[in-house]
Amino acid sequence: MNRSWILIGMMGAGKSSVGRALAELTERTFVDTDLILQQRLGRPINQIFQIYGEQAFRDHETSVIRALEPSPSVLSTGGGIVLREENWTEFRRLGLTIFLDAKIETLIRRLTVSKKKRPLLQVENWELQTENILASRLEMYRRADLTVNVDDIDLTNGAERVLAAIRQYESDADSSSER
Ligand code: S3P
Repeated sequence: MNRSWILIGMMGAGKSSVGRALAELTERTFVDTDLILQQRLGRPINQIFQIYGEQAFRDHETSVIRALEPSPSVLSTGGGIVLREENWTEFRRLGLTIFLDAKIETLIRRLTVSKKKRPLLQVENWELQTENILASRLEMYRRADLTVNVDDIDLTNGAERVLAAIRQYESDADSSSER
């Protein structure tokens, strides 16, 4: 019960929206690393990238998850958090990692209507950029304890689908430890 559920995946996969809905459904606390970072530095993510640069942003991101304790929470992360190996050490300490897996068409569709400004996508051909980022990270996302496909979800059934996958994972883990 005291393990955090950590959502990882690409920009536009729905980590924050599904995460919020999942937290509500299960009465867990919702935690969002990007929100903590924005509060800490008093600026939106876009400005943090502009002023301090991506490496400084990544340093802060790591220090945010380092400061967290395992708890009954749903932790939504920024899409690039998987890039640093040390963050995986923190993930293992905090709880269960869940990859929200969506194909490129889904990501582009969601990013087109998203209000969140993504610094890494402020380029002319942002669709191609998204595709390249996905290709470069897929292997890292697949290191998650479990993967949930979110191509055809809405908010409510997305949270339910993630919860069902977690319950299945936990019951498999229980039965293998009984053997
Ligand atoms: C990033 C994803 C963003 C945010 C930052 C960097 C990334 O979060 O952390 O712009 O490298 O993929 P979302 O995944 O919530 O968009």
